[in-house]
Amino acid sequence: MSFPQHRPRRLRVNPAVRRLVGEFRLHPADLILPVFVKEDLTEPRPLSSMPGVYQHTRESLRKTAAEAAALGLGGIMLFGIPTTKDAVGSGATDPEGILNQAVRDVRQEVGDALVVMADLCLDEFTDHGHCGVLTPEGVVDNDATLVRYADMGVALAEAGVHMVGPSGMMDGQVAAVRKALDEKGFQDISILAYAAKYASAFYGPFREAVESELQGDRRTYQQDPANGQDALREVALDIAEGADIVMVKPAMSYLDVVARVADRFEVPVAAYQISGEYSMIEAAAANGWIDRERAIHESLLSIRRAGASIILTYWALEVAGALRS
Ligand code: PBG
Repeated sequence: MSFPQHRPRRLRVNPAVRRLVGEFRLHPADLILPVFVKEDLTEPRPLSSMPGVYQHTRESLRKTAAEAAALGLGGIMLFGIPTTKDAVGSGATDPEGILNQAVRDVRQEVGDALVVMADLCLDEFTDHGHCGVLTPEGVVDNDATLVRYADMGVALAEAGVHMVGPSGMMDGQVAAVRKALDEKGFQDISILAYAAKYASAFYGPFREAVESELQGDRRTYQQDPANGQDALREVALDIAEGADIVMVKPAMSYLDVVARVADRFEVPVAAYQISGEYSMIEAAAANGWIDRERAIHESLLSIRRAGASIILTYWALEVAGALRS
């Protein structure tokens, strides 16, 4: 009988050894909490498709931001839900619009204790739910949208945002936002580009969260799940246009893309664990089908292992709390 010479199991014998040899770990500073804030809301409103996630009032947003700072999170990504929407998404560029107010509130609350970011896109603000303005034929007009994005970037910068996250997948959006920021003297406002963003079914619960009016889909501007190479091209373009951080989204179904981007490019790589990824784990756990905490931890570690150094996750507060204790 011959016995194995090599025994990888030796490094798995107990929690102390496993902890010592673990290559990847989570840290609160690598996590960004996405948060929804709704205009004219009087009480935080729970989202049925995302148990544990709320639409916030301005006041509850402040508290959440303070909590995020106390837990040492890396950042907070703000999404605004206006009371009235229109064809061009006017609320996005109104200094008194909900997102710009939220940015001011959060900056006042946390100062520079964490990175205050805002989703730079029109879909929460348009009555048709698309990420840009439409041509008379109803197609998203790329270059007219860039003008709106540039104005929105400046409005967010004036409100005090540290970092903007252009997420609409218009061609040239990073360059347009960078140029507008620079022209207004906002050279130090950085851009976290949603560089590789796929037309995903897993955004479903997010549509409830932002009360999206979208009919149809975003397949003419978001990427086709059948394509991987397209993501590398998008990332290269965004970096050339001035992106400081590039993001892959969603995370779970696109970990191969995260890995390829992290291997190839020399900028920080973020991944967004999106609404559907959150809801699936919560739903399975609520049914008793999986161990909730272990599944959350494992899902986040897989994103780190794929190569993302920054993760947007709706569990950021909970995970940061657990890491501290
Ligand atoms: C666009 C945007 C979306 C998400 C973040 N930014 C929706 C979309 O592209 O359809 C989705 C995030 C999630 O599902 O958690 N403003």
